[in-house]
Amino acid sequence: MSAPPLALSMRLRTVAYDDRVALRDIALDIAGGEIVGVAGHVGAGKSTLALAAAGLLGRSVPAVINGTIVHPLGGRPPAAFVFANPSTQLTELGETVEEEVAVGPENQALDSHAIRSRVDGALALADALPLALRIPRELSGGELQRVALASALALDAPLLVLDEPTAQLDPESAAQFANAVRALSERGVAVLIVEQNLALLASLADRVIVLADGAVLASGAPRDVLGRNPPLDARLGALRTANDARPHRTHTEHPPLLTIEGLSAGYGDREVLHELSLEIGDGEVVAWIGRNGAGKSTLARAIMGLVPARAGHIGVAEREISSLPVHERARLVGLVFQDPRRQLFSRTVLEEAMFGPRTLGVARSVARAQAREALSVVGLQERESEHPGDLAPQVQRRLAIASALATRPRFLMLDEPTAGQDAEGRGFIRAALEIQRSRGAAAVITHDLGFAQDACDHNVTITGGHMSHIGRISVETDISHR
Ligand SMILES: Nc1ncnc2c1ncn2[C@@H]1O[C@H](COP(=O)(O)OP(=O)(O)OP(=O)(O)O)[C@@H](O)[C@H]1O
Ligand SMILES: [Mg+2]
Repeated sequence: MSAPPLALSMRLRTVAYDDRVALRDIALDIAGGEIVGVAGHVGAGKSTLALAAAGLLGRSVPAVINGTIVHPLGGRPPAAFVFANPSTQLTELGETVEEEVAVGPENQALDSHAIRSRVDGALALADALPLALRIPRELSGGELQRVALASALALDAPLLVLDEPTAQLDPESAAQFANAVRALSERGVAVLIVEQNLALLASLADRVIVLADGAVLASGAPRDVLGRNPPLDARLGALRTANDARPHRTHTEHPPLLTIEGLSAGYGDREVLHELSLEIGDGEVVAWIGRNGAGKSTLARAIMGLVPARAGHIGVAEREISSLPVHERARLVGLVFQDPRRQLFSRTVLEEAMFGPRTLGVARSVARAQAREALSVVGLQERESEHPGDLAPQVQRRLAIASALATRPRFLMLDEPTAGQDAEGRGFIRAALEIQRSRGAAAVITHDLGFAQDACDHNVTITGGHMSHIGRISVETDISHR
């Protein structure tokens, strides 16, 4: 049997952005049908490696490459890339999801019949068929991630490069995604996948490369590199509600800080929340979990006043806020968006963290003190004078959390804060939640059940715009290898 042909042959002495060397001494070959995983800490060079493998570095993204990147199978394009942040991927050339997914095949000058079958096949594989006629910018985070995947699949390239493709997927969708990647590999597509979710990598990859400071720290079979029991990110673990013995708080022990009754909200004709009621106690940190599109982000936006409530009451610290404008609510509630870049607009990290308190009329010196304290909670005290736009996306998220903390809301909501974070970043986010607990309460919207188990008192499941369940999260730590 002859070895399958290579889809990628990459030899990099160095890759540098300006003066900073981001990668060195990388030799990577990927054969058709092979799945190679890349793991490593934030800043280790994983995204740079992925961009280089896809042939985007030095073209779409400026960098100086000393070495060679060859795609022996050719292809137009030779590689398809899925960005960590799916909104980066949108061309916005298509009005609907299916038009958006068709943009790539249209540029390949296929006939309309071939385009149709590419688009349908890609949407089906990405589990995005029900979204075909939706408007892309109106999708939830996880829905958009599926559309980004479908757009890449529609290119039919011999190499697929995925940068944190499951960061915003709910656990069931992440499992479906893993199946889709396996199906592609069986068809001979080569896959390079960057993931923080080591359990997913362990079950999916033929080979794993661990990067540290831009160089290869380890490389080999997942079991050898990640160990028999990979340090679990555990998002794929089965979800059970357990009566475990660990002490935890329940909402009955605490006077309520947030009270929602009969809340209905939505967009245009689409009602997303249907008479939802829930309570969070003072001093509690709660996880809001549920499938993609269930209405979690909409609930947060409705509490913040960014989506109007059609019916119902929202009380925070015994004050009814549902008729208050956003800037009044901002004294009591804070929200860090799923996409934190939408939230950063100052010239320095310190100014960014001072912006919230300053807008609320807090004196400059007090605002500075509150900002500095919040920055130190998330480990950014030494980066005060940097430009927010220059920070890595995971660090930008920590800055957005610090900015929200600095305004000292009674109730803080973080929308998928751990997406793309390594263990260190998750530690900072936990620290932020503990501070918030001492000042009021917090809700964490997350698909990261391991984090929810560690950082939250209990979980509330949102299903189809209702609260369907309250319980404790317990994550199976046993993962099945293929
Ligand atoms: N701006 C918008 N306009 C129209 N519909 C929207 C808009 N934003 C979200 N939706 C729809 O509302 C529903 C709930 O979306 P929401 O963003 O609240 O889900 P979610 O639970 O946060 O999902 P995810 O886990 O994927 O982030 C989805 O069907 C989504 O497509
Ligand atoms: Mg969401």
